[in-house]
Parts: sequence; C-alpha cells; structure tokens
Amino acid sequence: MKISSKLLSAMLAAGLLCAASPMAAQAADNDLKWWQKTCVYQIYPKSFADTTGSGVGDLRGIIEHLDHIKSIGCGAIWLTPVYPSPMVDNGYDIANYTDIDPSYGTMADFENLAAEAKKRDIRLVMDLVFNHSSDKHEWFKESQKSRTNPKADWYIWRDAKENGEPPTNWRSIFGGSAWSYSKERGQYYLHTFAKEQPDLNWENPEVRHALYEAARFWLDKGVGGFRIDAITYIKKPAEFVDGKPDGEDGLSGIHGLTANTPGILDFLHEFKQEVFANGDIFTVGEANGVSPSDLPKWVGKDGVFDMVFEFSHMNLPLKKGEVWCRPTEWKLSELKAAITSSQKATQDNGWCPVFFENHDQPRAVNHFFPAGADTKKAAKAIAAVLYTMRGTPFVYEGQELGMTNVAFPSIDDYNDISSHGQYKNALTEGFSPQKALDFVHFFSRDNARTPMQWTNGANAGFTTGKPWLPVNPNYPNVNAALESADKNSVLSFYRDLGKLRRQRKELVFGSYEELLPADEQIFAFARRYQNKALVTAVNFSLQPAPLPKSIYGGKLIFASQKNSDQDTLLPLEARVYEETGR
Ligand code: NOJ
Repeated sequence: MKISSKLLSAMLAAGLLCAASPMAAQAADNDLKWWQKTCVYQIYPKSFADTTGSGVGDLRGIIEHLDHIKSIGCGAIWLTPVYPSPMVDNGYDIANYTDIDPSYGTMADFENLAAEAKKRDIRLVMDLVFNHSSDKHEWFKESQKSRTNPKADWYIWRDAKENGEPPTNWRSIFGGSAWSYSKERGQYYLHTFAKEQPDLNWENPEVRHALYEAARFWLDKGVGGFRIDAITYIKKPAEFVDGKPDGEDGLSGIHGLTANTPGILDFLHEFKQEVFANGDIFTVGEANGVSPSDLPKWVGKDGVFDMVFEFSHMNLPLKKGEVWCRPTEWKLSELKAAITSSQKATQDNGWCPVFFENHDQPRAVNHFFPAGADTKKAAKAIAAVLYTMRGTPFVYEGQELGMTNVAFPSIDDYNDISSHGQYKNALTEGFSPQKALDFVHFFSRDNARTPMQWTNGANAGFTTGKPWLPVNPNYPNVNAALESADKNSVLSFYRDLGKLRRQRKELVFGSYEELLPADEQIFAFARRYQNKALVTAVNFSLQPAPLPKSIYGGKLIFASQKNSDQDTLLPLEARVYEETGR
C-alpha cells in the first residue's frame, strides 16, 4: 500500500487512521527480550492429555505433545496450576505452593517436562495464585485454630455483625456471601472466590515473604516466567463496609468494592523487587479491574509486571448486567478501540499480551462472531489478528484447532464451580431453568475446558479412561490428527502464521497503527518496521465487506480463503498485505 504524506494527513483527519505516531513503538532487535519474540501456549493440564487412563490429563501427556506446541511457533507454555489441590476450582485452590499434584505426576515428571521443553527451546511459565490458598493449606489450618495461633493473622478474619450476620454484605465472585464462618475460630474469614479459597492477608509481611519464597522455588527450577492470578484483589480496603445491594440476594459484588484498591502497587513493587527483578523471565498479571489508562503504572519501566491481561476487549461481548453476565449487543468498532487503547498505552513503554481465549472464557469462535458463523473460518479470522498484532500472542489449548463451545444437556453435566453459581443466581433472579441453562451454555468456563481433541478415536484421543469432563461431540471433525494432514485446516493456518511471524520482522518489532477504526465489518491495522509495513485486514462479519483501496493497494502475501475479488473480503476472510513503495 502506498500512502503519500498528503493522503496520510487526509486519512488521519477523516479518522481512517488513528493518530498515534506509527514510528513511536518500533523496536530494535536487541531491545526485545525472548518472550516478546515468541508466542505462549496455555495449557489447562487437566484437559490436555492423559497418559494413565485416569480421565485427567497429566505432565507426561504434555511431554508427548511438545512438538505440536512448537509447530505453531510457541516458545513458552503457561501451565495453569499443577500444585497439590483439592480441585474445588481445578487447582486454583492450592494446598502446597511447592509441589506437584499427584493426579498430574511427580516433581521428577515436572523436571523431565522442563528438560524436554528446553530441548525444543520452550520454557515453562507457572501460575502463581497468591490472592488466596486452599482451605486445606497448612497455613489456613493453623490460622483457623485460634486467634492466638502464630498464623492467626495470615488470612482475613472478622467478627460477625452484632446481629450475627457476616461482617459485610459482599458477594463472592462465584456467588453467595464472600464470608464463611469457622466454628473452630468463632469468626468469619473472607474469600473473594469459593469458600474453599480463603484470601491471604497481604498486609502481613510474613505472608508476603512466604509467598515470595514459593515463587523463588520455581525460579530455582529454571522456569521462564509467571502468570499471576487474580492479583488485583490482594489489597483490601482499609475499612470493611457494606456495598449497595445489587441483586435479589441483598449482596453487593466484591469486584467493584475491592479490586485495584489504592496501595496495591506498593505490594507489587516489593514483590517485583524480591522475586522478578533480575531474572531472564517474564511476568504477566491477571488484572481484571485495571483499565488501559492504568497500564503505565502496571507495565513498562516503572511498572510491576512485564505484561498484564487487561480485559476490556474480552468483556465487551460479555458486558455485565447489573447483577450478572448476560449477552449484549456490541460493535466491532468497540473491540478495536479497546485493543487500540491498550496498544497506545504501551506503545513507548510496556508490552501487551494478545489474547482472545483462556480457561475462563467462551471459545473465541463463539465469543466474537455472530451465531451461525462457520467456525473454521472464524477460527482463522481470529488467528490472523492474534499472530499479526503487536505484542506476545497467547494461544489457549484447542484454539489452534478451532475448538468450539459445548452445550451440555443438564446443569449437572457441568463441573465448573462458577457455572453452578451462575445457574443458581439466574434462578434467584427469576429466570426459568431453561433460560438459566442457556446462559450457562454461553458463559460457562467449561466451554474452554472440554478435553483437547487429538484424534477421531475414542474420547478424541485424550484418554483411554472416562474423561473428567465430556468431550465436545464435534471431535471427529475438529482434531489435531485430521488437521495436521490438511493444509487448509485451522491448525495448518496457525503453523503458516507462525512461520510468517518468524519471517517478517514487522510482526515482532513493528509499531501498531489502527486502520479503519469506524468500520463495523473489518478489523484492519498496519505493522510498520523501518521502511516496511504489513497490513492485516479481517472481515469479522457474515457479509462480504468492501475493502478500501488504501488497504488492497499492497501486495497480498497471506490469505485465509480463496477469493479473486481484490476489493471485497468474503465473510470471515483474513488477509495480510505487504505495503509497497514506502
Ligand atoms: C482467575 C483464574 O483464571 C480462574 O480460573 C480462577 O477461578 C480464579 N482466578 C480464582 O483463582
């Protein structure tokens, strides 16, 4: 695409390009660290690959599939928690921060996995769940024994209100009061999530230092980084007061009352100093409640992490109703604006993780595209944005196959604790059981947790036993073996995109410049590096989309569909152009 400076100013004035200086965020080769030049693959180990017939995935299963991960260009694996856990929240309830849950294997298996990964130039990234532990952690067992126990102050304890009710009316994220009563101690403890996940008291320096030590344990094992869970909740307000009731249960959602409380960054600077500051590793914080404008305080030179998962683009199609999630109308321009805001906030200082899926979200093909979309085309459309955007792409297991949401016939088929909370909430709010189930079908985290689809054999090749969660019935058409052999499959598309990222410096080092911000069908942007640029254009709609000449003037180097019509994108078509002559 050739854009003269006059045309460029005219396009800026017309709002066709965003005004951010395109040159500002170009990086020099040696400015970037290893984790900025690769992609990260997220594994939910329970659902990835089972080698024992237990029905639950394990670490050895991951070793068997390292080449699959490498084939799409990933140089790091984020393992969701593999520590000993009662599995109330599938590992996000940790009973010991420095060991491996027996259902996943042993520490020797972990070390073997790290060594096998290293041979392929892949590093492991651990999930640190430091806002809360399991109620089965020794620390909590001690803490609840008495008010004078040495660990009495390691969790957040309060007396009941004078009328015997919990200390405040806060509703936990999984539903119900955020307080549970311990008979043993005669007090309530706070839990932002399930009652089996008591919140740790970060005000207590002993707690913080015990957590830092746990993180250092994994650094000593050579891990390549950390994803840090639910980190925006670690700082609680100075005073605990009731919030305005926001539901039929008379409770008030805890997120709005405790997320991102001032003072949180002091804790996190200490955490960084004590644990991460000098390693060749990366950190990515899960930061629900942090907005793009907050990013400079969180990432970059003066920030606390290398990247944060900021959710404004994920939450758009899941906008919160007053009480709980319901699907709402949303526009592509809003999605693009959300992504551009994060990019702008980090363009000269900081870095973004690029992500459209994880273990808590519906599958991207259902989340970001209209019902009835061809899911294979949609999977390629999102892949093109994911791999050509500025930042580090995070691929969630199965996304590279185009795995989709599942709709189990009964609420009893769902395992996820939060889906059950959602269902109960819906009934409390007066919805019919069928309507409540419809919401679960769309929002359930189990959509992302059905077993990985490896083959068209029994249980999709995930296990020889009974899978802990049913396999999505579409596995005969969506599986790695089939897709590996088909050069037009979603998996092959990911492999091709991985190659493109390795070949084209623009995609790693280039600046990001949004194009066509107001267009409600096409997601388009340019990546400029030195005197070259690549332009991505993806039709997110189910109708053909006219493509402005300013985009298709370049040389077409990559496309998701066969289409000889240069000035119209087919439904869900993705293209990458090389800008020529600049
Ligand atoms: C965020 C994790 O991603 C989610 O899966 C978990 O349930 C909560 N944090 C609680 O740890």
